[in-house]
Amino acid sequence: MSFNETLQAKTAYAEEILSSYLPKEEGYQKIVLEAMNYSVLAGGKRLRPMLMLEAYRLFKGEGNLVEPFMAAIEMIHTYSLVHDDLPAMDNDEYRRGMKTTHVVYGEGMAVLAGDALLNYAYETALKAYDIEKSDNIIPALRVLSDKAGIFGMVGGQAVDVEAEKKELVLREEELLFIHEKKTSALIQASLMVGAILAGASQADVSKMELVGKYLGLAFQIQDDILDVTGTLQELGKPIGS
Ligand code: IPE
Ligand code: IPE
Ligand code: MG
Repeated sequence: MSFNETLQAKTAYAEEILSSYLPKEEGYQKIVLEAMNYSVLAGGKRLRPMLMLEAYRLFKGEGNLVEPFMAAIEMIHTYSLVHDDLPAMDNDEYRRGMKTTHVVYGEGMAVLAGDALLNYAYETALKAYDIEKSDNIIPALRVLSDKAGIFGMVGGQAVDVEAEKKELVLREEELLFIHEKKTSALIQASLMVGAILAGASQADVSKMELVGKYLGLAFQIQDDILDVTGTLQELGKPIGS
């Protein structure tokens, strides 16, 4: 198989696992469940769950303990995008080639769909206990929650929002802080959680953290260049944000 064929197969597999953990659209809160599923199923490269599975396999993880965590990281990533696109943040109308969640469902419902996805991520990750009562689940959850939170992704987004409001010219270390938090943190979580669930040593988990840091940095630099040189058609999201 060529690289592209392998990538396509791995993306499809991550997508299949993700779909299997999405909530049913029923009950009085049906509309927010629809908004959640709309945001997640809109597409995307599924890079984070893919990296998590690769790390799990790299450290000889077997079975499907990693699967609820693969779904969880993509739910957290998707919630971050739903909120990032809101009028109060980047105010973007397209994401993954589709109208953004607030454009389709309204701002209030997009805020709630984001909140719900974040919480559902943990509800989903904890389903790992239904697969195996592994001692690695709590350490994995700890990394996932740290990297998603105020000392991780949310922290980076907060400094980014603040910097834009003040139209500051950032120093290099401030820019690196934003990128390492808002983008690297969830990529680090993906690699580290995969390794932890497979039973990797602390030293190996730390190596994965370093890999994730630089991978995320490169990823965000590329994303920012594409924001200038790309097109809406190519990227599925507006440029110039
Ligand atoms: C977009 O991430 C947000 C950034 C951190 C730059 P991706 O480029 O991985 O978005 P999807 O999941 O493929 O839509
Ligand atoms: C988004 O950063 C990073 C998140 C944590 C959501 P950007 O604003 O640079 O990413 P895009 O260009 O909207 O995908
Ligand atoms: Mg944005």
